[in-house]
Parts: sequence; structure tokens; C-alpha cells
Amino acid sequence: MTMNRQITLAARPVGAIKESDFAYREAPMPAVNGGEVLVRNLYLSLDPAMRGWMTENRDSYIPPVELGEVMRGLTVGEVVESKNPAYAPGDKVTGRGGWQDYYVFNSQDLAMKIPDGVPIPVTAFVSVLGMTGLTAYFGLLDVAAPKPGETVVVSTAAGAVGSIVGQIAKIHGCRVVGIAGSAEKCRWVTEDLGFDACINYKTENVAEKLREYCPKKIDVYFDNVGGAILNDVLGCINVGARISICGAITQYNATELAPGPANYLSLLTKRSRMQGFIVLDYAPRFMEGVMQLSQWLLEGKLKYKVDVVTGLENAPKAIGKLFDGSNQGKLLIQIANG
Ligand SMILES: NC(=O)c1ccc[n+]([C@@H]2O[C@H](COP(=O)([O-])OP(=O)(O)OC[C@H]3O[C@@H](n4cnc5c(N)ncnc54)[C@H](OP(=O)(O)O)[C@@H]3O)[C@@H](O)[C@H]2O)c1
Repeated sequence: MTMNRQITLAARPVGAIKESDFAYREAPMPAVNGGEVLVRNLYLSLDPAMRGWMTENRDSYIPPVELGEVMRGLTVGEVVESKNPAYAPGDKVTGRGGWQDYYVFNSQDLAMKIPDGVPIPVTAFVSVLGMTGLTAYFGLLDVAAPKPGETVVVSTAAGAVGSIVGQIAKIHGCRVVGIAGSAEKCRWVTEDLGFDACINYKTENVAEKLREYCPKKIDVYFDNVGGAILNDVLGCINVGARISICGAITQYNATELAPGPANYLSLLTKRSRMQGFIVLDYAPRFMEGVMQLSQWLLEGKLKYKVDVVTGLENAPKAIGKLFDGSNQGKLLIQIANG
């Protein structure tokens, strides 16, 4: 009988995630009851948010993963058995499949069937057309509402979310300045994705470069990092600026809370606002986002990159790539062929 390989949460990380924070086990195949569907995971999305899900003492938007529980994660997979008339073996679905080979979902779970015959690789459904693309779409257009001619700055510019944010802002006629952690990443977003400029925050003075690349100041900032970069941006905003707080990866491994940005008073003098959001709140509008992103993708207006690491057993090590910046685009684990 086939076993279900699983990776569970073994310890709550202190500081950076360690491989020993996870454990490997083999479980029996899950039973499929009436109305349920058995899925074999093909690709698992690794996300910075997982660091928060591993932590207990935070007042967060979602409960933490319990110790000993299969690590939570979004996947794209293939239906292998169905007791639900809406799904048939061979269908491709996205859902909360977790760090394991197989899972079962029922009609209450958030799962999306990928329409047959779509000329788009399945990996797109856990990247540009998945939660990261939707995060870029709603976090930029709904929270920050950029207008043509405005200047948009985005951090983690070459990452899964940031690379899509910058391209959507270009589609909307904005000047786009990225911030990323290497010359290679900066080259990709300016030469291949059409950003107007990019700052390498590891080698350049961010505050100085923002003044140079944003001569009309910053109207929209899509913040994925928090910390010193957020502070530098606040020092360069326009009247009426909108800052969309998507993430703060500089803070996720911190063992103590960092002080707030010293330049926060710019929000007052520039009559501006910062607003956080969680993509899951947009679930009722996901189809709108997927349709628009798919159209841009098929028209060649949107490009994306996936960084695929093969083997479920390599997920505990691979997640570190998100925090040392060695991922090149959306980080995925390939669990099975298909
Ligand atoms: N609000 C929501 O609903 C929502 C949903 C999805 C994602 N997010 C957030 O979106 C952000 C991006 O996520 P993603 O999935 O697209 O990841 P990603 O950008 O593909 O990968 C993470 C990147 O973060 C950068 N980074 C890591 N440590 C850093 C540090 N100390 N300072 C500056 N940059 C650092 C690295 O790029 P460099 O090489 O450029 O440093 C790394 O490649 C995260 O903050 C995530 O939590 C929010």
C-alpha cells in the first residue's frame, strides 16, 4: 500500500527557521468519504508567511500550525479518487494541500479546479495566478489604487509578489522603481520586466537613490519588507501617498519588536496613509483577479519566474532561500511529476 509522506512542525523556530524545526513521517493513505476528493500534490508553494504560521505567540490573522501537525501550505495537485460529482480523476486543483504527498478535501474547503485545456503550466496556479499574483493584484489596485503617471515603488521587486506588482503598475501607466537584493535581480526587473529603475539595497544608498529615481516623489509604495527601507520611502513620499503594507520580511525572524519608522510623521505632513491587507479577505473576488491576470499573461504583458526545488524532503532546507534571498522568483517544491 502507498504511504503518505508528510513533513510536520517539530519545534517553534527561534530566529531563522532551521531544518530541525520540521520532522518527517510516513502516514497511511487518507480515507475518502462521501463528497470528498483525494488529491496527489504536484507542487507546493513555499511562502514567507509560513514563518508566522510556525510561531505561537502572535496575534495573527490565522491560527498557528500545531506542533506535530502537517505543515500548512498551498499546493497544486491532481485528483486521484473522487466521491464528489464535481471532480474526476485527472482534474488539476489548487488548495491547502500541505507539506505531504496526498490530502483529502471536501466541498467546504477552498479548492479551485483548473479548467481543462488551458495553455498555461500548472506552476502558474501556485504563482502568478495563485495567491502571490492575487496578493499583487488586490494589494496594489485595491489598497493603493495607482493612477497613470504616478510613481510606484516596490520592495522585494524580483520576488513572487513584487515582480507582479511592478508589472501591473506599468500596465497602469505608472513610473515603477523596484528595490531588490542583487544586481542580477535588478537587471531582470528593468531589462525583462520593464521597470524604470531598480535599487540594489545591499550595495546602494536607498534614500539617495529614491531621490534620484523618483524626482516627482513617491505616490505609491508596495511594502514587502518594513524596516529601514520603509523608513527611507517615508522620507520621500508625495502629498496623498498610499502605502500598501503587504509584508515585513525584515521582521519575521526578529526575536524582539523593532522600533517604528522614525519618518512616520511624513504621513501627517504629506496627508498620506499606510494600510495593511490580507489577500484571503479578497476570496470573494479571486475569480476576478485570476481572469485579469490570466488575460495579461496570455497577452504577454505579464512575465513570471518559478524557482523549483525537487523533492518534498528538501522543503525544510529550501524555505531558507526566501530569507537569504537566493530564490529566483516564486519558490516551489516539486513533490511529484504530472
Ligand atoms: N498580505 C498578504 O496577504 C501577503 C500574501 C503573500 C505574501 N505576502 C508578503 O509578500 C512578501 C513577499 O513574499 P513572496 O512570496 O513574494 O516572497 P519573495 O519575494 O519571492 O521572496 C522573499 C524575498 O524577500 C527578500 N528578503 C529576504 N530577507 C530580506 C531582508 N531582511 N530585507 C530585505 N529583503 C529581504 C529576498 O529578496 P532580495 O534578494 O531582494 O532581498 C527574498 O527573495 C512577504 O513579505 C510576504 O509575507 C503578503
